[in-house]
Amino acid sequence: MKFFIPALILSCLLALSCRHKPVIQPDINNACDTTNVSYRKSVQPILNRNCGSCHSSGDPAHGIILDNYKSVRIFAAEGSLYGAITRNGEYAPMPYDAPKLDVCSIATIHHRIMEGMKDN
Ligand code: HEC
Repeated sequence: MKFFIPALILSCLLALSCRHKPVIQPDINNACDTTNVSYRKSVQPILNRNCGSCHSSGDPAHGIILDNYKSVRIFAAEGSLYGAITRNGEYAPMPYDAPKLDVCSIATIHHRIMEGMKDN
């Protein structure tokens, strides 16, 4: 009982100090250069690396092919591509059964979609 009060105070202090820790948000603008994003050089390699094992022509998961511009454009336009990689709750989270893509990959894909999915 002698230690109960000090222990209680200590744990309150610990809880408080944890709550006030600043949340470090990744700075997309600094971490990632999206000034020269090209579909072929920037976006397709991300998709090949992270999605190619399941979404390539041949036997694509869910019928979704992500190995060429024409097909990727469809899923970018309907919103499922971005919804799946940002895990917005409306689409199945992708990559399937794997960690979320890194901030820079998501920013790169987002940038390309916002630019109207140019093919270059
Ligand atoms: C290990 C295999 C695998 C990988 C890797 C994978 N997917 Fe999928 N993907 C699936 C499966 C399986 C489904 C169907 C999931 C479902 O319906 O629950 C799917 C569905 C989707 C859908 C449709 C989601 C919906 O709810 O309509 C999109 C879009 C998609 N994937 C994009 C991607 C993207 C982009 C990547 C890479 C960043 C990726 N996938 C990586 C297996 C995979």
